[in-house]
Amino acid sequence: MAVAELPIALDRNSPTPLAAQVAAQLRQAILEGTVGAPHHLPPSRRLAAELGVSRGVVVRAYEQLTGEGYLEGHGAAGTHVAVRADMRADVRAPVRTTPPRPREEPSRPVIDLTPGRPSNTAFADRSWRTAWRAALAEPGHVDLPPALGTTRLRAAIAGHLATARGLAVDAEDVIVTAGTSDALQLIVTALRTRSPAPRVLVEDPGYPTARRVLTTAGARVETLPVGPDGLRTTQLTTVDPAPDAVLITPSHQYPLGGRMPVQERLAVLEWAAEHRVLVLEDDYDSEFRHQRMPLPATASLPSPAEVVLLGSFSKTLSPWLRCGYLVVRGTTGDLLKETRTSLDTPVCGVLQSALAHYIDDGALARHTARARRAYAHRRARLLDRLANRPDLELDALEGGLHAVVRLPSLVDAEDLAARAMTRGVRVVPLASYYAHRPPENGLVIGYGAPTDLQLTRGLDILLQLIDTTVPPGGRDRT
Ligand SMILES: Cc1ncc(COP(=O)(O)O)c(C=O)c1O
Repeated sequence: MAVAELPIALDRNSPTPLAAQVAAQLRQAILEGTVGAPHHLPPSRRLAAELGVSRGVVVRAYEQLTGEGYLEGHGAAGTHVAVRADMRADVRAPVRTTPPRPREEPSRPVIDLTPGRPSNTAFADRSWRTAWRAALAEPGHVDLPPALGTTRLRAAIAGHLATARGLAVDAEDVIVTAGTSDALQLIVTALRTRSPAPRVLVEDPGYPTARRVLTTAGARVETLPVGPDGLRTTQLTTVDPAPDAVLITPSHQYPLGGRMPVQERLAVLEWAAEHRVLVLEDDYDSEFRHQRMPLPATASLPSPAEVVLLGSFSKTLSPWLRCGYLVVRGTTGDLLKETRTSLDTPVCGVLQSALAHYIDDGALARHTARARRAYAHRRARLLDRLANRPDLELDALEGGLHAVVRLPSLVDAEDLAARAMTRGVRVVPLASYYAHRPPENGLVIGYGAPTDLQLTRGLDILLQLIDTTVPPGGRDRT
């Protein structure tokens, strides 16, 4: 593959930082078609030497453009231009240097704005490969991995929770899981030793996978409608008799985005302690806050209630790993540990070692900080496209990697999602998250995985579809 010759001239007297100058000129070259896919870019060290700047300047510029979707990094395989001729046309009329490649009808949507999908850059990180090499270099293990997780990973997770979440956790309180779905299955299996069909209360709207997994594992799932700040204790007290467990997303209600105030969390704990209800706190994306600092986890608040914290690496790294953790205490903690020990662990030992190396090396913290910046940037793009539309109402943007977009009444969300799919854009109607309540008319849009260009193009297609449905006078949302 050709290595691009880059037309970059730096102005050292300019107040613009050198990395921003490199990024701007490279972006310009890509937009004008001077440099295009599948060109490889020179290694950062070489370009830095040619430009007479430090390597960090070039690395920062490459990182910026990778986040924006102009470049793709493949670790040792180098960095190459990701923008094809047909994508460039959406941004600016290109000066073509090569004939356009024939367009193929996508068999899968080109632009996937499904929520729950993080940026795919974690596995391109050199530290990720280093961690796996270190794990594979360990002396061969011939035993099963320990049922509750390797000592090293449990300690690494406890350390990660202390720095990322301000939680004081002993390594012995951590159980390594194969993600939240596995954790819910484990919890129901454990609760079934106390009651054959434990009743678990969940939020409505809420996480459909959780409802499915809980039911399949043998729980009776009941729902409670959530308000703008999540579940309300006044609603909980109406559930009579009280359930065995309640599953909540207090930091960022899924999917509406509400954040349960501390007073309300304390009230939930008081109710749970009084009625001996197990509180399951799904802390799925608290690492990614864009506006306010995250509130302390409910599990860290003083209370005699039993709280299990469910964490996952699906958002911080990738759902492809199938890895997460539980923080458990008290009698239920002991029961969960016994149950896991009887069942054995589903989590691969090499993965546990690699992840422990990755966390201990500080690479997870670095990756999370980079990803947070990329998400904040894409969130700004989304606001840029949608916030000035009086016919749309945005929500859930305080943190995480998705937004809720409420639509005008004349635009049916399911119909819009179906039409967007025919244009190669996948979005999920808000209705998919509702169990019983009449759903609100809206979409849930994930901005974690798409590049800036894909996101902008996807949103533009959605706006076009909305505008062709609603005459300008009919854009109210009621
Ligand atoms: C609300 C919620 N909880 C938890 C998770 C993580 O689930 P898992 O660890 O099974 O991938 C997700 C992922 O999308 C989620 O949306």
